[in-house]
Amino acid sequence: MNCTRKIDDDIIWVGADNRRLKLFEAVYNVPRGVSYNSYLLLDDKTALIDTVDRAVTDIFLENVEYALGGRTLDYLVVQHMEPDHSATLVDVLIRHPECEVVCNKKIFDMITAFKGAEVKAKIVKDGDVLELGRHKLTFVSAPMVHWPEVMVSFDMTSGTLFSADAFGTFGALSGALFADEVDFDRDYLDEARRYYCNIVGKYGAQVRSLLGKASALNIKRICPLHGFVWRENIDYYVNKYTLWSGYEPEERGVMIAYASVYGNTENVANALACRLREAGIKCVMHDVSVSEHSWIIADAFKYSHLVFASVTYNGGVFVNMENLLHDIAAHSIRGRKIALIENGSWAAVAAKGMTEILSSLKDVEFVGNPLSFKSALGADREAEVDALAEQIIKSI
Ligand SMILES: Cc1cc2nc3c(=O)[nH]c(=O)nc-3n(C[C@H](O)[C@H](O)[C@H](O)COP(=O)(O)O)c2cc1C
Ligand SMILES: [Fe+2]
Ligand SMILES: [Fe+2]
Repeated sequence: MNCTRKIDDDIIWVGADNRRLKLFEAVYNVPRGVSYNSYLLLDDKTALIDTVDRAVTDIFLENVEYALGGRTLDYLVVQHMEPDHSATLVDVLIRHPECEVVCNKKIFDMITAFKGAEVKAKIVKDGDVLELGRHKLTFVSAPMVHWPEVMVSFDMTSGTLFSADAFGTFGALSGALFADEVDFDRDYLDEARRYYCNIVGKYGAQVRSLLGKASALNIKRICPLHGFVWRENIDYYVNKYTLWSGYEPEERGVMIAYASVYGNTENVANALACRLREAGIKCVMHDVSVSEHSWIIADAFKYSHLVFASVTYNGGVFVNMENLLHDIAAHSIRGRKIALIENGSWAAVAAKGMTEILSSLKDVEFVGNPLSFKSALGADREAEVDALAEQIIKSI
C-alpha cells in the first residue's frame, strides 16, 4: 500500500503515525497521536534520513521499500539516536546490507551503545558534504536539541532543512504532510507549543544557537522528525521558536494552577479568575489533579503571569502541585510574575514550600504576599482576593 507522500519528485516522506500511544516518552499524553517522520532522497545515490519508533516498524519498512521501488539504499543518515527515531535502524540495515550509515562521532558511539555492535559508517563533521548526485547534504551539529549527539542536515540543492526534533509537533499527520494543508494556527499551535516546551523547552540557549546557524542558510523547507513539513510561512514558525527559546511569554495574561482536595482552594482560584476576567485579563485554569503536567507547562511558557494555589498536604505542598513545580523548575522557565495562594486547616506551609521550589527560577518576581487561609476563605476576607487581583492586573 502506498502510505508515502512526495515532498517533491525526489524527496519522499516515508514515516508513519501512531494513534495508539498512551504516553510519548513515557510521560506525555498524546490524545491526537504522533508522527515519526523519515525522509528518502532519490538521486544518483539514495539516502534515508532517520528511521522511526519500534511501534510503527511494519508500515515504515513497507513505505521505504515502496519509495525505493527496487533500488538499493546507499546511505542511512542518522541525526538523532533517541529510539523514537533509531529503534528501526538495524531493521533497515539488515534489509540493505550495502547501506552505509552517515553520522557524527557521538552518534556513532551511541549506535554502538544502543545496538551493541559497530555499524559500517561514514563519520561526518559540521560542514562536511555528502554528494548524492544533484542533491548535496551538509551537516550542522545541534547539541541538546534535544540530545547531545543531534545533528541536522541541509540539502543545499533544494534548500531543505532536515531539522531533527526541532520544529516538530505532537499530533498524527493523518494524510496531511505540509503545515499549509491544515489550519495550523487554530488546530496545531497548542500541540506544537506543548511539544516544544516539554521536549526541548529546557534547552532554550541551544535552540537559539541552532536558530543562529540556520539563519545563515537559505531555507525553503523544514522537515522535522515529528509533525508537519513547512514550505510556506516558515517565518511564522521560526518566530514562535524565537519567542519560546527566549522564554518570552506569548500572551500578557494569567495561568492559574490549583491543587484542592475538597474544593475550598479551588473556590478561591475561581473567584480570582472572575475578578481578572472582569478586568478584561485573559485567564486560563488548570486543576493539577486533572491536567497532565505537559499542558500546564505549555501554558506556563505561554502566559506572562502564573498563580499557584495549593492546599497544605501532610506538612508540605500537595503532591501533584509539588511535582508540577519541580517540573516547571526543571524546564528553566524564567521571567514570569508569580502569585501564590495557600490553604491549610491547621498549619499552612504550602506557600513556603512553593516559594522554595520557585525561587530557583531566574528573573521571577512574586506579586504581593501569598494569600493564606484556613480551610475555607470566608466572605469577610473576599477583599483579599480582590486585592490580589488588583496587584496582578497592575503588573500586567
Ligand atoms: C490528606 C490530607 C492531608 C492534609 N495535611 C495537612 C497538613 O499537613 N497541614 C494543614 O494545615 N492542612 C492539611 N490538610 C488540609 C488541607 O490543607 C486543606 O485545608 C483542606 O483539604 C481544605 O481545602 P480544599 O477544600 O481546597 O481541599 C490536609 C488535607 C488532606 C486531605
Ligand atoms: Fe528526541
Ligand atoms: Fe523525537
